[in-house]
Amino acid sequence: MLVATLFYRGLTATNNFSYILSVSYNHLGVNIAMAILEVLHFPDPRLRNKAILVEEIGPDIKEIAENMLVTMYSENGIGLAATQVNIQKRIVVIDLSEEKNEPLILINPEITKLEGSESMREGCLSVPDYYDIVERAENIEYCHKTLENKLVTTNADGLLAVCIQHEIDHLDGKLFIDYLSPLKRQRLKKKIDKQEKVQQNLL
Ligand code: NI
Repeated sequence: MLVATLFYRGLTATNNFSYILSVSYNHLGVNIAMAILEVLHFPDPRLRNKAILVEEIGPDIKEIAENMLVTMYSENGIGLAATQVNIQKRIVVIDLSEEKNEPLILINPEITKLEGSESMREGCLSVPDYYDIVERAENIEYCHKTLENKLVTTNADGLLAVCIQHEIDHLDGKLFIDYLSPLKRQRLKKKIDKQEKVQQNLL
């Protein structure tokens, strides 16, 4: 269970943190200052960056993973890829549990087998308030490194399989809306343009 005391420091998005957390953090048994990171929103071109492999899993990678988890929980997400917080490293965090106490941290995740197909309604923290059906593989085999530098190969199906495919796409600069028909993408773009106009008028 994450116990966090929130200190608002009035920092702006320009330095990438909106909040600094002082946390007694038990997931990894370490006490470090935690930060909620800014999540990039479509059509930010930085979402198209391709993340590079993590070569050494040191304290910096642990800190990134922790901050990604805190960010994901604060946004009520079930998965987050480093690309979404403008970090070009192959790191994904996922937590599908109701209690939000079963974090999965995947370093250098890679899908090694895809089987079957399944259509599920997806959403994304980088595309707020938009959900649509995407067809993906139903069963996957995948490997990743843990924060303890162990290489794990395992299987997933259902929501976890969908989530892993969605997050690995992010690391390759791909979004779930890329799978939609041109007509649906056009409609979404219109909706976002309209929202931007409303926001500009508010400023
Ligand atoms: Ni996403």
